[in-house]
Amino acid sequence: MKLVHTIKELQSELDALRNIGKTIGLVPTMGALHAGHASLVKRAVAENDVVVVSDFVNPTQFNDRNDLIKYPRTLDADCELLEKVGASFVFAPSVEEIYPEPDTRRFSYAPLDTVMEGRFRPGHFNGVCQIVSKLFMIVEPDRAYFGEKDFQQLAIIREMVKQMEFKLQIVGCPIVREEDGMALSSRNARLSPEEREYALNISQTLFKSRMFAASHTVAETQKFVENAIAASKGLRLEYFEIVDGNSLQKIANWEDTEYAVGCITVFCGEVRLIDNIKYKEK
Ligand code: PAJ
Repeated sequence: MKLVHTIKELQSELDALRNIGKTIGLVPTMGALHAGHASLVKRAVAENDVVVVSDFVNPTQFNDRNDLIKYPRTLDADCELLEKVGASFVFAPSVEEIYPEPDTRRFSYAPLDTVMEGRFRPGHFNGVCQIVSKLFMIVEPDRAYFGEKDFQQLAIIREMVKQMEFKLQIVGCPIVREEDGMALSSRNARLSPEEREYALNISQTLFKSRMFAASHTVAETQKFVENAIAASKGLRLEYFEIVDGNSLQKIANWEDTEYAVGCITVFCGEVRLIDNIKYKEK
């Protein structure tokens, strides 16, 4: 495995490999890697000859400066994990390398990027599309891997690939959870032991709501989740929406779609946590 900091070095390495017919998988990350990221890398290793993992805390996608400053940075530990799971290259560029000048490009995929996270984190998905499109142009992968943990991000990236005609395949990967059900997230490291206990109620509520949904309406399921989070110590609901998994638009009845997903964002102390659950899938 090789740690690379510049675009030029990465591209000359990849060009040589592409020229001898190697396929390339890309796993974009912001570092602070955990078993969720590792699952994406393992899948990429299984499906490609060469795997590039980018490790870059992208400033343009942070609408909250404090969140950017506090974002964990653990490159040494990340490299250790990536070596173990078989990555070929870790691409860890500086901010200046990626943005020698401000990125003025604007990406708009309404209504996918105006609902949920788009409503509460203005500019966030624009920043995600800026960095992900740059990574696609730098690496030119055959396949790129994203987690369903960031369900809306995955839907927007699929749309960007379609609209921009990127010649690559997007592979969505299931959420990896702790043994107790909590979705793995780099932000979990910022929870105190007490907050970590409170936060468990997020996934527990979603699991219970899936049982509840089997014999209740969409509106009743919505209320069930809202009430459960309101009754949970230490948690504050930002939003919970039951949407069509492709259009991300709210559904009124279960019969409205073959693919129903509940997306939730909750504050636990100062830490903003997201999770989701599938109620219906083809
Ligand atoms: P980051 O939060 O580091 O996540 C990198 C990838 O890992 C994303 O595709 C995310 O969905 C996936 N991931 C995170 N936690 C997961 C879990 N518990 N199970 C499965 N997959 C999980 O998402 C980003 O970075 C950035 O927005 C990025 C796409 C890298 C652009 O900067």
